[in-house]
Amino acid sequence: MQRAMSRHRACCAPAAARAATLAAAHVHPIGGPPCERYAHAREHLAHGLASPLCEVEISHGCGSWLHTREGGKLLDFTAGIGVVNLGHCHPTVVAAAQRQLGRLLHTSMATGFSEPVTELTARLVGGVLPAGLDRVMYSTTGAEALENALRIARAATGKPNVIVFQGGYHGRTNATLALTRSKTAYGARNHPQMGGVYVAPFPYESQAPGLGVDGCLFQLELLLKQQSAPEDTAAMIVEPVLGEGGYVPAPPEFLRGLRAACDRHRILLVLDEVQSGFGRTGTLFALEHARIVPDILCIAKGIASGLPLAAVATRADIAALSPAGTLGGTYAGNPVGCAAALATLDVFRDERVLDNVAARGAQLRAELDAVAARHPHLIREVRGLGLMVGVELQPSAPYGAARALSRRCAHEGLLLLSAGTFECMRFIPPLTVSADEVSEGVRLFERALAGTLDRPTV
Ligand SMILES: Cc1ncc(COP(=O)(O)O)c(C=O)c1O
Repeated sequence: MQRAMSRHRACCAPAAARAATLAAAHVHPIGGPPCERYAHAREHLAHGLASPLCEVEISHGCGSWLHTREGGKLLDFTAGIGVVNLGHCHPTVVAAAQRQLGRLLHTSMATGFSEPVTELTARLVGGVLPAGLDRVMYSTTGAEALENALRIARAATGKPNVIVFQGGYHGRTNATLALTRSKTAYGARNHPQMGGVYVAPFPYESQAPGLGVDGCLFQLELLLKQQSAPEDTAAMIVEPVLGEGGYVPAPPEFLRGLRAACDRHRILLVLDEVQSGFGRTGTLFALEHARIVPDILCIAKGIASGLPLAAVATRADIAALSPAGTLGGTYAGNPVGCAAALATLDVFRDERVLDNVAARGAQLRAELDAVAARHPHLIREVRGLGLMVGVELQPSAPYGAARALSRRCAHEGLLLLSAGTFECMRFIPPLTVSADEVSEGVRLFERALAGTLDRPTV
């Protein structure tokens, strides 16, 4: 496995860099004014976009690295927000997509099912998806998968309402915006939102002491008594690890409690594994940590290593209640995306990717714990599962400190996103990241941390 991964890391590095180690000298920090073309695009791209971490044009990517048109090299611990789990341009995925490009770029599922669609469906229901979830609907984005899950749940139960959890992020389409509770910013100037959505607390003990698993499950039962009765509630939708909401893993007992509550009240449990799925937490799906199976599972991002593909999986008895024509989309099950997903599954198997997540995840946690021990006045908590690791800053950090730290990291040559309401950094390196790259990322993070937060103003 290690040999295959180093081959991958070397795929597009220049000869001199291939021969060298990952010393600091190979990370080219960025800075200075943006180039003219970038500035033009920035002006003409929609203002509703958040501003990017760095003002550069990305020309290409390889493994854990992104390269800029200006010749800079950035260590990418965002993985395109948890999408390129196998690193940028994994050669097996690229080759599979290229083969498919020459055979069939697109056909609508209304015309017929392409070979990659039938093959991927067989693979997914033949052992990749949890047992029993053997009905699949494809789409292109995570938000669409959630939209489909909502429609499937309403059609199956005949009930209108849904329960979501504080801190959850489920997308930015009109329906998913109403499900999203990670930040008010996403819905700014877009009210009123879709009705029928009720919000229950998510256990986040470090911020809300006393509101642990029992307290949250108690509040959920109250909600079902006081706000949305089980007879009116189609589904509960939850992320097993809050992503955009701050990299907070749900305690397994909480997820098991939700499963039990759903069974008791005849409500469907929807797990949103758009970010936590495809190996991110050390198991193929994060649900394995809690040993539960949802009624509906949403997956996207890492499934196709960079091509836009998403899916929702459910049981046959639930799927059967969606009338024909209620699900669909021109690009659903795009052949190139499905070919990339098949290659992704091959790489997981052949390169033992989950073993690397276990080893590198433990290393990342240990090295970040050491940083936290050196800067206890700056870091409150290091938490996470596998290679989905959050670092929360102390409450004394000023508002916007995490965002400022992200920018400083980019300046140092490390791409790292912030998350949540409580000044948190999220580490999402590719699952193929090497030991040297993990250490290099932590070193750059610590340098940025000291450079940003140890100064009197941010
Ligand atoms: C947990 C979760 N659900 C849904 C989405 C929405 O996915 P997309 O941006 O592909 O629509 C995201 C995106 O970050 C996510 O993290």
